Amino acid sequence: MRRFKFFFCFIRISLIITLTKSEFPCFTNSIISCRCNSDESLVTCVENRPSNEAFIDWSTFSSAGHRFHLFKFINFTHLTSNTFANFTSTVLSLGQFEFTFINCIDRVEENTFQILNFYSDTRITLIFESPRNFQLANYAFSRLEYREIMISGIQNDNPPYQLNLKAFDNTQIYQLSISNSPEFHFISNGSSSMNITHLKLKNCSLTNIDLLLDSLSTFILDIDLSSNKLNHIPSFMQFLTLKDIDLSANLFENVKSNIFTNLTQLNRINLSHNQIKHIAPDAFLGLTKLSTLVLHDNRLTSLETITVHNEVTSFLYPLVPTLTTLHLSNNLLHDFKPIRNLSSLNSLQMCCNKIKILNENSFENAHKLETVDLSCNHIELIHPMAFNGTILLDLDLSSNSFSSLETTKHVINDHFHLKNQTSSFLDTLQSTLIVLSLENCTNLLELNWFVLTKLRRLSILKLSGISKTDKFWSLQSGDGPVVSLDHRLLDVRISLYNIRFDNNDYCLSKSVFRIFNRSTLNVDENHPCNCFIFMLKKKIGAVHHPICLSNQSIVQELTEDCMNIDLFCLSVVNSTTIPSTQSSSSTVRTSTKTSSTASKLTTMSSSQSSSTKISTVTVTAGSTKTSSISRLTTTNAPTTLRTIIKDDGKWKTVLAITIPLTAVAIIAAGTSIFIVKRWKKKNSKESFEMLTGFENLLARK
Ligand SMILES: *[C@@H]1O[C@H](CO)[C@@H](O)[C@H](O)[C@H]1NC(C)=O
Ligand SMILES: *[C@@H]1O[C@H](CO)[C@@H](O)[C@H](O)[C@H]1NC(C)=O
Ligand SMILES: *[C@@H]1O[C@H](CO)[C@@H](O)[C@H](O)[C@H]1NC(C)=O
Ligand SMILES: *[C@@H]1O[C@H](CO)[C@@H](O)[C@H](O)[C@H]1NC(C)=O
Ligand SMILES: *[C@@H]1O[C@H](CO)[C@@H](O)[C@H](O)[C@H]1NC(C)=O
Ligand SMILES: *[C@@H]1O[C@H](CO)[C@@H](O)[C@H](O)[C@H]1NC(C)=O
Ligand SMILES: *[C@@H]1O[C@H](CO)[C@@H](O)[C@H](O)[C@H]1NC(C)=O
Ligand SMILES: *[C@@H]1O[C@H](CO)[C@@H](O)[C@H](O)[C@H]1NC(C)=O
Ligand SMILES: *[C@@H]1O[C@H](CO)[C@@H](O)[C@H](O)[C@H]1NC(C)=O
Ligand SMILES: *[C@@H]1O[C@H](CO)[C@@H](O)[C@H](O)[C@H]1NC(C)=O
Ligand SMILES: *[C@@H]1O[C@H](CO)[C@@H](O)[C@H](O)[C@H]1NC(C)=O
Ligand SMILES: *[C@@H]1O[C@H](CO)[C@@H](O)[C@H](O)[C@H]1NC(C)=O
Repeated sequence: MRRFKFFFCFIRISLIITLTKSEFPCFTNSIISCRCNSDESLVTCVENRPSNEAFIDWSTFSSAGHRFHLFKFINFTHLTSNTFANFTSTVLSLGQFEFTFINCIDRVEENTFQILNFYSDTRITLIFESPRNFQLANYAFSRLEYREIMISGIQNDNPPYQLNLKAFDNTQIYQLSISNSPEFHFISNGSSSMNITHLKLKNCSLTNIDLLLDSLSTFILDIDLSSNKLNHIPSFMQFLTLKDIDLSANLFENVKSNIFTNLTQLNRINLSHNQIKHIAPDAFLGLTKLSTLVLHDNRLTSLETITVHNEVTSFLYPLVPTLTTLHLSNNLLHDFKPIRNLSSLNSLQMCCNKIKILNENSFENAHKLETVDLSCNHIELIHPMAFNGTILLDLDLSSNSFSSLETTKHVINDHFHLKNQTSSFLDTLQSTLIVLSLENCTNLLELNWFVLTKLRRLSILKLSGISKTDKFWSLQSGDGPVVSLDHRLLDVRISLYNIRFDNNDYCLSKSVFRIFNRSTLNVDENHPCNCFIFMLKKKIGAVHHPICLSNQSIVQELTEDCMNIDLFCLSVVNSTTIPSTQSSSSTVRTSTKTSSTASKLTTMSSSQSSSTKISTVTVTAGSTKTSSISRLTTTNAPTTLRTIIKDDGKWKTVLAITIPLTAVAIIAAGTSIFIVKRWKKKNSKESFEMLTGFENLLARK
């Protein structure tokens, strides 16, 4: 089949190429005038005048023994059995005929092509482009074997168009494709029978195809009914050999039980771009080979169904052993629990849903999962064990709302001391992840590059459009085992579009790029030139090199300006008064050596916060006045969002705000926040802390 496709693709391409070659008149009679191209395999014929007679005397045509014969008939109106009646006496065939009819075909009479049966081994392709009215007589194509019949853009003076299936009675067609035609129905005087291997009926405003399906022999490999107006899924029950069904872009609202029963060879179902709200739990029962299920752009709110016996089940469960690719993007899903059972799943596309939390072991049994797209959801929390069990290579978390890559867990150690353990959902992916996208995660207030350095195979890191906060270049090793970073000469392509960097960023990023020292950076082409751009220019990808770097005088200036930048950096790194780094040295941890200081600082600010009065208010969305946001933001108070699992079994999210004493007065005006969320978990005296910012939380409300 592939070979065929390639073969015909080749023919089409050669057709286009040959069209441009020189042509000369090679055959003329009263009805048509034909021109041949120089190698004579393409013959282009134009009807001299509309005629009902349609007899063409081919006796003077010379076919010179070519392997392919491509005939192009322009503006023919009427095809009858006379059209090709004595074609066979002069045209020899060694393989392949293709007839293309462009415009105007009004009527095709009985047995028009039957004479071509003469060439027993020859495969015939018929192409009708923009036929007008296109009345097909019974048996018009009958009793013949075709490689392909392709009909597109039927022009019809009296809609709806009626396609006479009896015209195809007793045909064997490797591929029948009818597309881009306005509303039509099928008609058939008595039953018709055709043997079609690949059937495409696209963009024809079809509302019912039962008559067609009744006419098909049971042997068929794929059916494409996309872009029609079908509102119920027809039964394909008798087509036991089907491998692929495309039902995308119709008007289905639900998928009923057993609709695909017995299709044990079915590999792929495309139901995207419908209005599906409900799928029966046994809709895909018995599909023992289904590997790809495409459900994007629908209205699913849940993957689960509650049965009459009050059991939770899912239409995905029958597919557990086989499903490798699942597309669920652009639905209304709040969660995706059944996916954890899909033990063969390799790729999950789930962008643009309404997912808020990724829980522990969200993909528990999806041990083969390599690609996950969860972009454009509302993900706020990602449990460090969220991706445990997977072997993710490609993770897209772009355009979500989480605020940190890390979670801090308070655990009690053997000596009953409270210990802080920081971990990241990326930690379980250290040996697999190659591509990570955090693009447009505008709430990501802290980006700890240390977490990223642990991703040993990382080669593409997309950070474009995330907000550059004072914790953008943070590099904290946490309490974990100290890894010697010097061996990690990471070679990563880092995209940083839509972010503006300044001279301070050069200083702050130095320790990061000491580790990511072989990385390539992509920044905006129109990024203004400064010492960040200038000093890192060797790292900046050649594709979108900032334009200003090609200006010699700017470069000259920068060479001078940035000469002493490293000296300047010392003061930046030590200083606490850089406007963009308000939370002082705690964010500017330059290496693993200082990280112990870093954690001390965190501890300090936390204990300070507990001794300072933390006013905690239960947040009901919108209760915080916007005016206070800006006030708080201007104080630049370091803030911490803490999510605590208490032993009473509730997971509470607490926003504790640590505020310089000078800001307490403003806070006292009643603007601190406390969020409570519920979470069930027993027997664990541990708590989670997710670093985040205050503005962020308010912005979300
Ligand atoms: C083609 O058909 C015409 C009219 O029937 C006839 O005169 C002519 O001999 C035929 N040519 C051949 C080669 O059979
Ligand atoms: C075919 O007919 C259309 C009008 O129906 C005309 O514009 C076009 O030139 C004709 N093509 C040829 C090749 O004669
Ligand atoms: C669908 O068919 C209509 C004619 O009925 C055509 O105008 C339109 O371009 C087609 N759409 C696509 C995507 O091909
Ligand atoms: C339907 O077929 C029968 C016999 O097969 C024939 O007599 C009748 O005229 C046909 N009707 C139409 C509308 O073609
Ligand atoms: C239909 O075509 C296929 C392959 O082209 C062939 O194997 C099968 O026997 C045919 N079935 C019928 C009923 O003609
Ligand atoms: C499913 O159908 C849609 C719409 O026709 C198409 O864009 C998409 O590529 C198809 N997906 C697959 C995996 O075939
Ligand atoms: C499915 O196939 C089985 C046996 O292969 C058969 O008994 C049953 O009737 C079929 N079901 C349908 C709905 O065709
Ligand atoms: C799904 O997986 C969970 C464990 O993760 C298991 O308890 C449950 O029985 C599984 N359900 C099905 C239908 O396989
Ligand atoms: C991580 O997944 C593995 C295997 O799926 C499981 O055995 C282990 O308990 C999980 N770890 C945690 C902390 O849940
Ligand atoms: C852990 O963090 C909390 C608050 O974030 C702090 O109060 C506590 O002192 C820290 N404990 C250790 C051992 O660092
Ligand atoms: C991020 O946002 C920019 C600008 O709004 C947009 O052009 C880009 O496509 C977005 N990227 C993703 C992955 O959504
Ligand atoms: C910055 O701090 C380091 C130690 O952290 C010190 O060695 C260095 O002298 C300081 N530089 C300035 C300019 O204060």
